[in-house]
Amino acid sequence: MSIQEQAIRRPYVDYYGKHDISPFPDIVDINMKRHFQQRESLYRYLGIVPSFLEGKNIIEFGPGNGVNSLYTMSLKPANYVLVDANQKGVDNCNANFEKFYPLANNYEVINSLVEELKAEKLYDLAICEAIIPDQVNPSAFSRLLGNHVKPGGLYIITCNDVVSGISELLRCLVSILIVDEGMTFSEQVDSLTSVFGSHLSTLKAMTRSHKDWVIDNIFNVEHWRDSLLFSIAEAIEALGDQFSFHGASPCFSSSWRWYKDIDTTEDQFNSQAHLNYLRNVHNFIDYRTTCPERSVLENKLLMEKCENIKQAIAGFSRIRSSENFSTVQMEIESLLPMIKDFSPLTANSLEDFLDKITGNFPASKTLKFNAFEGWWGRGMQYASFIRK
Ligand SMILES: C[S@@+](CC[C@H](N)C(=O)[O-])C[C@H]1O[C@@H](n2cnc3c(N)ncnc32)[C@H](O)[C@@H]1O
Repeated sequence: MSIQEQAIRRPYVDYYGKHDISPFPDIVDINMKRHFQQRESLYRYLGIVPSFLEGKNIIEFGPGNGVNSLYTMSLKPANYVLVDANQKGVDNCNANFEKFYPLANNYEVINSLVEELKAEKLYDLAICEAIIPDQVNPSAFSRLLGNHVKPGGLYIITCNDVVSGISELLRCLVSILIVDEGMTFSEQVDSLTSVFGSHLSTLKAMTRSHKDWVIDNIFNVEHWRDSLLFSIAEAIEALGDQFSFHGASPCFSSSWRWYKDIDTTEDQFNSQAHLNYLRNVHNFIDYRTTCPERSVLENKLLMEKCENIKQAIAGFSRIRSSENFSTVQMEIESLLPMIKDFSPLTANSLEDFLDKITGNFPASKTLKFNAFEGWWGRGMQYASFIRK
């Protein structure tokens, strides 16, 4: 990917810069002891023994306010480089590190576009959390940043796909129906924060403020409308020749292979994870349920249906016509029998959603949901890869 291609638009960076925001938790907002426990739990799912990071060289792309990075820093790396192009995030990150580690001299926060950083030095660990799927070309972007990992080193990325994001996409549709465009940005944010407050409150372990979620997941339109997303399957395809799948959260991939059964014609870690993803992607649709594996064909049809819904909502957000709204409604209705096949709980939530939005355009009324409120997907997946 050329820098010119990436410069067509600069996902996140332009939006955050325009509003002078970095909408992620800050240390004053969260219980840091619990936060560190959550991060340790994540690292273990990614196959990292936390103490093994001591003395390592680590680079992180897009740390935002650096609150997650404070945990990585606690593991005593030899050298920790953090790169972000949002001035507000860089300032917050520096302030948080200075507050937490006032005597440390083993870290550096660089204000730069990550794609402009030359891979002159290679790192034991590179972290890309919540930065790849919204990029103009996520596959090329992931490969570019992966160049900073040394052979044998670890690469942590996050993925999003349409199935895991469908419940949030439906909330974006709600926002199109009810937001009052005559209001200022801040008034719109307050109004949707109150609409989705009861939905977000069902997520007991959430550390982000409701307002930041609305700013980042609803009003950052390119996040849900323009981005291609980056599924775990696409990540394995993009990185597979240089990287081997290692671990993930949620932990969707298991293998009963005897370790001595080695097939040298393919990377068995990659092929196993790829297949497990396709057999389990329906489990990303609702964090409240875990269903048995399904056939790859059934799940491919589910992915296709969710993609059609995404495209229909994107079309409706651009041209708000009755015809486009009917298309959206029809696509969502045809998702229902597919979901009923494996998750009655999710189907019940979708029924509530359909019941409330049906006929709700152009005369939109206030929407108050019941069973839909508690439906959220396993929206962001983490994966780690070892560089070959
Ligand atoms: C969604 S935020 C994630 C922040 C943090 N990693 C987290 O998970 O809370 C993405 C971050 O990546 C930064 N970012 C996105 N694209 C970038 C780019 N091309 N170059 C540098 N920073 C970028 C944004 O400024 C933002 O701080």
